Formats: sequence, C-alpha cells, structure tokens
Amino acid sequence: MFEAIERVPGDAILGLIQAFKDDPNPDKVDLGVGVYRDEDGSTPIMRAVKAAEQRLVDTEATKAYIGSHGDPDYGRHVLETLLGTDSAVLADNRASATQSPGGTGALRLAADFIAAQLPGKSIWLSDPTWPNHKGVFGAAGLDMQSYPYVDADNRLDFDGMLAALKQIPQGDVVLLHACCHNPTGFDLSAEQWQQVLSVVQERELLPLVDFAYQGFGDGLEADAYGVRLLAEHLDEMLITQSCSKNFGIYRERTGCFIAIAKDAEDMADVRSQLAITARENYSNPPAHGSAIVATIFESEELTAMWREELDEMRSRINNLRSDFVKALAPHGLDQRFAHVADQRGMFSFTGLQPEHVEALRDRHSIYMVKSGRANVAGLNRANLDYVCNAIADVVK
Ligand code: LMR
Repeated sequence: MFEAIERVPGDAILGLIQAFKDDPNPDKVDLGVGVYRDEDGSTPIMRAVKAAEQRLVDTEATKAYIGSHGDPDYGRHVLETLLGTDSAVLADNRASATQSPGGTGALRLAADFIAAQLPGKSIWLSDPTWPNHKGVFGAAGLDMQSYPYVDADNRLDFDGMLAALKQIPQGDVVLLHACCHNPTGFDLSAEQWQQVLSVVQERELLPLVDFAYQGFGDGLEADAYGVRLLAEHLDEMLITQSCSKNFGIYRERTGCFIAIAKDAEDMADVRSQLAITARENYSNPPAHGSAIVATIFESEELTAMWREELDEMRSRINNLRSDFVKALAPHGLDQRFAHVADQRGMFSFTGLQPEHVEALRDRHSIYMVKSGRANVAGLNRANLDYVCNAIADVVK
C-alpha cells in the first residue's frame, strides 16, 4: 500500500537545524531557525524559568489532565500580558483563552475554528509570511490569499498593503503580525496600525493577530500596541500567542489561542466550540510550560527576573543589528544593509537573494533561510566579521 507514497522535501526552516549540525566546518554560523542565542551561541534556559521549574519540582502535586482550555491561571496571565491589566475587554469578560501546544498549535486551533465556524471565509496572509502559516491553514482546508508587505527594494510596502486590505471581501480573515514580523522584521508604526484598524472596520474584516514575539521588538508594552488598539475598537478578533521565544521554552510547546467576542454570551458560545476543537486535535495541552509561565507570573520576584532577562535579550539583538551594519561599512555595504538596524525582532529580511544564501552556505558554512531571512541573534562578537566578510564575498 505504501509504494505509492511520495517522499517530500523536509521543512525548509527545521531542515537547517540538521544541515548545520552535519557541517564539520568549525567556523560555521547558524542564522537559520528562530531561537534566541546568547553571545556564546547557546540557547540557555532563562534563570526565571529554571527557578520556576525548581519550585514546580518541589510543589507540583499531580500530573492529571488540565482540561481542554488548559490552565486557567496561565490563560489569565497571558490575557493580561497581551491586552493589559486595565483592558475593557477583560473587564467585560469578552476574551477566551485556550492554551495550545505552542504558537503553531494556536494557529491550528484558529484555522480549525475558522474552517468549522466561519465557512467560506478566506484568510489573507502578508507576502511574505512565516512559511508554516501556509502549511497550517492549508492543512485545515482554508482558502488562502495574500496582500503585499515588502516592495522590490526590500522595504515595507505599507501603501501596497493598505490598498490590498481595502479590496478584501467583507468578513474575510486577515492575518497580521503583532510585532517582529516573521520573516521580514518590518513592523507597523502606531499610525500605520491606526490606518489598518480603519480598513478592518470599513471592510468588517476579522483580524487574526499572530503574537509570537512579545518583548522582542521594543518591549512588552510597546509590542502590544497593535493588538490592544484592535481589541479596544473591534467587537471580534482572534489572537495566537506563543511563549516559545519570550520564555525560551520552545520545546515545552506553550501557546494560547484567544477569541474576543462582542459580549460574554457570544464568548461562552465560541469557547464551548474551542473546547471541542482542542479535544478533537490533542484533547489536553501539555502542562509543564504553562505551569512554568504561571509560576513566574505569580511571583513578583520571578516576574522581575524574567522581565530583566527578556530586556537583555532584546537589547542584545537590537545592538547586534547596528553592529552588523557598522561592520559592513569597511566593505562599502552599510547603506545597502542599513534597513537591518531598523527592523525589529529576531529576524531580518536581509535582501540577500537565494543565490547569495546558497553561496554563503556552500563557501562559508553560514546558514540562513533561502528567502534571505537571517536570525540576527545568531550573530556575536566572534562571528560578526566572519559573516560580514562572507556577505561581501558573495554579493560582489
Ligand atoms: C522560525 O520561524 O524559525 C521559528 O518560528 C521556528 C519555526 O517553527 O519555524
């Protein structure tokens, strides 16, 4: 029976992990998959996370199921972190949080929810977007369309984006990246978010905001600007959230799907459906990651420690961005790559073409996604000049 099954190429981003591991070059540099790296190139466990895990070892009393919506304490803390403790949406009990296996699991819940409850609605994705958006929404059978996001000169194409949003059929779903746009690193300004809100209101679109990098752009509060603006002005919206990056608990698969409804009654209806969607997909989410996050949020000391570490990670990345541009100056390439210093989050859409990416890998053992997306956190003082020399070599 299995003879007819075709072999397919592996996932382009995750495949880089193995390719990098297999490369014997001692100078190799990993700018591929989106995990934070410190100055030593490691992805350490955050101090607050380790401390929370220690507390859990001492206090956790059961490994019984946590229910299809997950841990309510986790859900409450996530909602407050996303929407703000003073959110009117929270006061009015209009938001439902369903804990999910990572941000990807949240996207799949969103996709299944849209497919089952909003049949006939297409989902509109930025071009480019995280490639797995297409994987997840396609797997759920959604019709996918795109709106422009980056122009031919590798700049944010906000005019193109807005013009396209104005053409989206009424009631369709539009996926927006809350901050730290993956793969480009180009984020919307406050004013641009306000314009997006106006179009969303005019066209009566349903925003699905993917919020996987809160704290990695300009800070926990600043990064939530767009989400909070939409939540404040719209009756209905969807949000997917991840703790993979900002708590560094990638493998614990800790995320959340949030549905905001126009009133508490609608929210309860939506919530009842989401419990079934979760049940049919994986029944209950994994509990360890959410327990870590809830433990941190419930301790002032651990919350302060976590915030400090998150600030350190963000500053390191933002400093690397300007160091990278400076290190390209001797090669006469600082202007060409000046946008890298202005982008935000883990990723930079460098403007390198697939042939450059291939040459970087073949000639210099530098790994990044074929689209020219680089994980800026993979840079450090020891490899910065090596990477810049290699870029100068391949773009000549
Ligand atoms: C990335 O974009 O590299 C990360 O979000 C990891 C992943 O799952 O693709």
